[in-house]
Amino acid sequence: MNIIYDSINSVFMLNTENTSYGIAVVDGKYLGHLYYGEKLESTDIRYLLREDEGPRVPSVNRREKGAFLDCTPLEYPETGMGDYRESALCIRSLSGYRASELCYEGYEICEGKPSLEGLPATWGDPSGCRTLKIFCRDSLLGMKVTLLYSVFADSDAITRSVLVENEGEEPFYIEKVLSASFDMDDRGFEVMGLFGSWARERHIQRMPLGYGRQNISSFRGESSHQEHPFMALVTPETTQDAGEVYAMNFVYSGNFIAQAEKNQFDSVRMSMGIHPEGFTWKLGPGERFTAPEVVMVYSGEGLGKMTRTFHDLYRNHLIRSPYLHQKRPILINNWEATYFDFDEKKLLDIAEEASKLGIEMLVMDDGWFGKRSSDDSSLGDWVVNEEKIKGGLNALVENVKKMGMKFGIWIEPEMISPESELYREHPDWAIQIPGRETTQSRAQYVLDFSREEVTDYIYEKIAAVLRSADISYVKWDMNRQLATMGSCALPADRQGELYHRYMLGVYRMQERLITDFPDLLLENCSGGGARFDAGMLYYSPQIWCSDDTDAIERLAIQEGTAMIYPVSTMGAHVSVCPNHTVGRTTPFETRGHVALLGTFGYELDITKLSDEEKDLVKRQVECYHRYNDLIREGDYYRIASVAENGYYDSWMILSGDRQKALLFYIQVRARANGKSRFVRLKELDPEQNYRAEGKVYSGQVLMRAGLRIPAEFGDFVSRIIEIEAV
Ligand code: DGJ
Repeated sequence: MNIIYDSINSVFMLNTENTSYGIAVVDGKYLGHLYYGEKLESTDIRYLLREDEGPRVPSVNRREKGAFLDCTPLEYPETGMGDYRESALCIRSLSGYRASELCYEGYEICEGKPSLEGLPATWGDPSGCRTLKIFCRDSLLGMKVTLLYSVFADSDAITRSVLVENEGEEPFYIEKVLSASFDMDDRGFEVMGLFGSWARERHIQRMPLGYGRQNISSFRGESSHQEHPFMALVTPETTQDAGEVYAMNFVYSGNFIAQAEKNQFDSVRMSMGIHPEGFTWKLGPGERFTAPEVVMVYSGEGLGKMTRTFHDLYRNHLIRSPYLHQKRPILINNWEATYFDFDEKKLLDIAEEASKLGIEMLVMDDGWFGKRSSDDSSLGDWVVNEEKIKGGLNALVENVKKMGMKFGIWIEPEMISPESELYREHPDWAIQIPGRETTQSRAQYVLDFSREEVTDYIYEKIAAVLRSADISYVKWDMNRQLATMGSCALPADRQGELYHRYMLGVYRMQERLITDFPDLLLENCSGGGARFDAGMLYYSPQIWCSDDTDAIERLAIQEGTAMIYPVSTMGAHVSVCPNHTVGRTTPFETRGHVALLGTFGYELDITKLSDEEKDLVKRQVECYHRYNDLIREGDYYRIASVAENGYYDSWMILSGDRQKALLFYIQVRARANGKSRFVRLKELDPEQNYRAEGKVYSGQVLMRAGLRIPAEFGDFVSRIIEIEAV
């Protein structure tokens, strides 16, 4: 890893082990984007700017700004001066003019990586990480902009963020501040993204990139079920193992836009940042604004390499939880078992049966507080309902602990029910536009988390509950998206700050929670998987992946999620059949195999299982203990996708020393008159022999010829196969 400034060519080069990223100072003023891709050993690459070609050359156009800006590959484009492509920065002056023109001023290279004020971000210590700061200024506005880039010794990822400072005399308004943007020639790129809905999150979609702008975005106030803060541009025919991939992932949980724009010159601009819709930030003299971090990954070896780069970066430089490298307790959650209809006796019955089968933690889900017996009331009233939990929370927790189990609890701190004590006392604490009907969703309003008095109040109430009993785990839920955006506490010209201030409030409270309760295992959740993003992973080592617990639906959800995020972050449980979301019946073993890829647990009424199913629970618990170290810490390889082949899904986890692997194989659809399949494993040691299902094979044979998997009778049949070096 290094960062070079070549003063002869005025070129900055950021190098990771296998990639390079080049930036040039153009005309002593602008920042041009030179290169991103496979590692280069030379910085003599200025010719990539095509400075001597029309329409840039003076003989053709006297180097007029309009022609120059609109066709030069730029590093951080702005609105208003003649680049008509999508800008990264749009400033409105106090007088109402929308334009800025940054001029390069200098740079600094430092060891390590500065943290981003109030925001989640990757981190790196001075020995393994370096940061480039490029300083630019717009003298008319008195605006200083610092572009930050970090590289890591142990990763091919490059991170970017932007700091905007007002060093002038009067305020200006930031109307758009994306965190990353660069231009490159088109290579027939296709756009990959993750799309879905509630209970159908993060399905992979790939489409050709045409002329114009294609974006993936959310202005729902969260990263969302529907679209995901990730975009990749891939060369045609890119597979898991071959092809070029340019990926961006946002370390942020609120509104975002990721965009690819192909223009008249077949140049492609790729960018990512906070969605400008609904965003304006007033920056007063002496104030600064930090744009959240984008992680960029280039892979010249297909999608699999991109995936493992993200996984390693997030495991080594993002997730801070002490639980990251620990086997998490196998939990049983009462949601699908009881929904709102439970009392302490029902919970204890579940815990008793679960403890006999080796389950290690009981999680009490929604419905334990205020007067909540449906989703109609009580959010905000964070006091235990002793009519349901007779004897109180502490007695319940102690009784669960007597069974040898830990105890966890569900909360939804960001919300307020119109039917609650809190709303009666503080109606102005809800996000609202005076005079308009406040939008309800799931019978709830959203609390104005931009206000510290609100987050402080909620925090204290929840902290009191956590202090009142021995609680090991919290599931932090968020069950609706934001609308009627207005804060009773912000002045008119700061209302456009609400979405982002809301996110800062959520981050502030999560930081406080994990600081004050350092042993707490925090799992984020949002109506299933609507806030499964890198921002949240900074606070919690795991996130509930989806409310859809059907094993077959989960294949696509977990495939899309694991394309970016480490498998150890995916909340995954075994639930009952017919499945509550899709009504499908799958074998108990298959449900276990699919959930084993994630954090693993149960979401069913265990007291109602048959003896045969209880035996299967015991076997699954054994499997979890046997394989979780490998699954959690190993490298993930996608082998086959049922979304592509229509019949089967397969992936494997390989230990870092290549001595052990675990192959997962799900036959989704049986085939009449079918044969066995040869499944080719990946990245084994070709010189090494391995044992699989009692037979010994060379690593080379397993990779080139494949392991034979018999055709099974019936749909949804699965197996996991242990492969061990001998
Ligand atoms: C949505 C979550 O995803 C579910 O697991 C459950 O906790 C419900 N909310 C409770 O309201």
